[in-house]
Amino acid sequence: MPHLIQPMRLNPLLHTLMAASMCTAVHANTPPAALHTPNNTVYPRIDHHLGERLHPNEAVKAEEIADIIAASIRKQYSSGLALRDAHPKAHGCVRAEFKINETLPKNLAQGVFVPGKTYHAWIRFSNGSRDATQADIKSDARGMAIKLLSVPGKKLLPDEASTQDFIMINHPVFFVNDPDRYISFMQDINGSGVLKKLHIPFALGIKGTWIAFNSRSKISNPLQTRYWSMVPYQLGTDPDRQAVKYSARACSALTTPMPHAPHPNFLREAMRSDLQKADSCMEFLVQPRTSNAMSIEDSMTEWKESQAPFYTVATIRIPQQIFDTPEQNKFCENLSFSPWHARLEHQPLGAINRMRKVIYDRISQVRHEMNSTSRSEPH
Ligand code: HEM
Repeated sequence: MPHLIQPMRLNPLLHTLMAASMCTAVHANTPPAALHTPNNTVYPRIDHHLGERLHPNEAVKAEEIADIIAASIRKQYSSGLALRDAHPKAHGCVRAEFKINETLPKNLAQGVFVPGKTYHAWIRFSNGSRDATQADIKSDARGMAIKLLSVPGKKLLPDEASTQDFIMINHPVFFVNDPDRYISFMQDINGSGVLKKLHIPFALGIKGTWIAFNSRSKISNPLQTRYWSMVPYQLGTDPDRQAVKYSARACSALTTPMPHAPHPNFLREAMRSDLQKADSCMEFLVQPRTSNAMSIEDSMTEWKESQAPFYTVATIRIPQQIFDTPEQNKFCENLSFSPWHARLEHQPLGAINRMRKVIYDRISQVRHEMNSTSRSEPH
């Protein structure tokens, strides 16, 4: 056939260019092969469209961080109950109802945010310090982890779980935004000797040290504190998916005064005393990104509320209850929260979140194995 170009007769440069363009065409139609960590965990795919960028050797570094944390809890809890490496001190796990607004604009009515729907949920409130015995009056980061139950739809993890987790801390930004700094920080806090501790500000850099310092504060009641997801999440699916962050805050501006002579566990007492008397109410908010200049990867930079407002999508009712029982505390201890317990529409975004897929799963596995308890998601 004379009008067809015979590849063998093309000059070598043209041949190479054609081969390259054929390769691109194949890649455009075929999803790239999944990336695996050294332990063979499937590492999250990158969403270039939303602005995700992979760090060099990120999957390997995520495993390295998991190795450091696993070794640390094996050492720290060589006898007795193995606790979480981060946020080991719970103020309590409470039953809650997570009610989605009756009406929502289409861009927010995605995934679990089905207008009018109510989910049963568990919420675990915690201190961030790795020292579970630390008194609540000390400045610290405070956590709020929500687990929605009986959530239908496709999930990100290949288990049969029907849960959706939202994990937040009472500060809008995280103190690290890249894997290398996190490794260096972990080596410092787990190393022995004063020199290692003195090196922490060098590991974190000026901005990271500043954020770490400011993430710690005193609070008088976990039910009245504002929390942020710090890192972003996808909302929705192709082609209209967007990037959002989350937040939660009390429905009213009531504040419990700080006790004069605080008991080491006074935050648990504040929750216990409130919930013995009445229901408690919080709002769950979503902050859609309004410009691509708001970074997905830089978890150290806030998306300013003045440029990207938050919208209330759900009301969290924490009914009057007695939560501080040995059975419920044990149940709470055995729960595992992860940003990756999520529907496809809520895929976690950015390096910190991608690494959390590997780390949370491994550390939860290790502590359950150390405690000889089975690991399963509640129904
Ligand atoms: C690479 C960065 C991070 C690492 C290595 C890390 C590590 C961990 C680990 C090991 C646990 C305990 C998991 C378990 O035993 O089940 C945990 C829990 C937790 N993390 Fe992170 N984390 C990171 C980033 C974040 C961020 C950005 C947030 C912000 C919301 C966060 C908030 C929490 C909270 C609230 C808990 C306690 C959850 C619960 O109540 O069980 N973490 N983290």
